[in-house]
Amino acid sequence: MRLDLISIFPEYFEALNLSLIGRAQQDGLLEIRRTNLRDYTHDRHRTVDSPPAGGGAGMVMKPEPWAQALESVLSDDGAAARPILVVPTPSGELFTQQRAAELAAAEHLVFAPGRFEGIDERLTDWAQEHFQVHRLSIGDYVLNGGEAAVIVMVEAITRLIPGVIGNAESLTEESHSADGLLEYPVYTKPAEWRGRRIPEVLLSGNHAKIEAWRREQSQQRTRRRRPDLWAKHVVARERAAE
Ligand code: ADE
Repeated sequence: MRLDLISIFPEYFEALNLSLIGRAQQDGLLEIRRTNLRDYTHDRHRTVDSPPAGGGAGMVMKPEPWAQALESVLSDDGAAARPILVVPTPSGELFTQQRAAELAAAEHLVFAPGRFEGIDERLTDWAQEHFQVHRLSIGDYVLNGGEAAVIVMVEAITRLIPGVIGNAESLTEESHSADGLLEYPVYTKPAEWRGRRIPEVLLSGNHAKIEAWRREQSQQRTRRRRPDLWAKHVVARERAAE
């Protein structure tokens, strides 16, 4: 997979050179290219923002530097298909595990994180002619810019690419996987730590019992912590039983 990350703070993405994503790049599973948006400005101050039309607080990102940066990405994308452009924004659709799985199948993803009050709306309209545009939010809160959201999304997407995670089995059991339940609690040695014991069933060696216990814990947790997910899970289970 190829990723293009365009930002006025390309250094922000250095965290992606660490750990599993860093290794995936070294192994050739992933190519991450960072572009400084200001390289596509042509004035002395390398201006990327301007006051909002119609007045109001803050500044809006000008569309032209973005269009030129995106055109440069397109011009060296050999593939014929329109690449996917992800625009992180708190006013987008919610980024979920399912969305991560869909995006993990793409060959080329381009991310355009805005700063200030966002990017002039005409940019995404224009971009639709050349890209499949996804405006995505990572949650119902507002960040100072989209860069942190890009890191979140890149991490969630790339760990689903075959070979990025050593133990692919760990993907099927975790929270937000196919059954829509949260993950069960996990423990390690010693069996007793500061007066607290591991649940006895985990020491029993009885795999069927352990599996049943874990499933029950997942259900309890989901019911208590995320009644919204639990309601969806119950509906899906009832449909499957029909
Ligand atoms: N930019 C600012 N806040 C954001 C959010 N919640 N999700 C995605 N991009 C953002």
